[in-house]
Amino acid sequence: MTHALRLGVNIDHVATIRNARGESYPEPIRAAEVAIAAGADGITAHLREDRRHISDADIDLLSDLCRRRGKPLNLEMAVTDEMLAIALSHRPAAACLVPERREEVTTEGGLDVVGGHNRIAPAVAALKAAGSRVSLFVEADPAQIAASAKVGAAVVELHTGAWCEAMRHGDAAKAELTYARLRAGAAQAVALGLEVHAGHGIDYATVGPIAAIPEVAELNIGHFLIGEAIFTGLDPAIRRMRMLMDAARVAEGVSV
Ligand code: PXP
Repeated sequence: MTHALRLGVNIDHVATIRNARGESYPEPIRAAEVAIAAGADGITAHLREDRRHISDADIDLLSDLCRRRGKPLNLEMAVTDEMLAIALSHRPAAACLVPERREEVTTEGGLDVVGGHNRIAPAVAALKAAGSRVSLFVEADPAQIAASAKVGAAVVELHTGAWCEAMRHGDAAKAELTYARLRAGAAQAVALGLEVHAGHGIDYATVGPIAAIPEVAELNIGHFLIGEAIFTGLDPAIRRMRMLMDAARVAEGVSV
């Protein structure tokens, strides 16, 4: 089944646990199988320059699985020559360009599409020519969203990290401001002909208001789901997230 609001499950942190022991388990490919069986509309994985979680071999296996299952692999990648060469050889259904700093714990902030136009535009063109749907992971900032349309991206993925963090910390003023920016950014992006995705830091408590933004077509969720999997199992965690997404959509009168 495909959903109007798709759920991409990011399985990076299964690899984080595997790599903590330098062992062969738990296997990201097994998590991807479970995610698909639980109703994930796609699998998302970030191949980082330092290979701290997902490895090149994981990408080979995930590409193959997603092809066999008819589900998109969304490859998150920095805009570097190395990652571009890997993406062009795998031709994933989707490529999400993200900023990457070696010392960061996770993807902090969005891509600077305004400042990086000359580097990003050719990467977008090359990935599009290889058949990948290209998304840019950006803050809900009007200039970054406008620049994303200008470089030829099909999608913007709005960074929900600041809003989710404000919600978790009970910072109502910051939450209100950042949520208003997400809503305005989604409307702006659609008006520019972009598809809108959202992700980063989403949990059961924050998924509803994001899913309720009618322009949002896809959520990419990872860390929280893998954490919940420790307590409830991955399959029930994904099913519950899916249920909360759909409930928020129905409550807003938006198609699920
Ligand atoms: N979307 C993008 C572009 C990301 O970089 C990440 C984190 O890898 C996510 C979504 C998922 O974020 P989280 O793991 O916090 O759910």
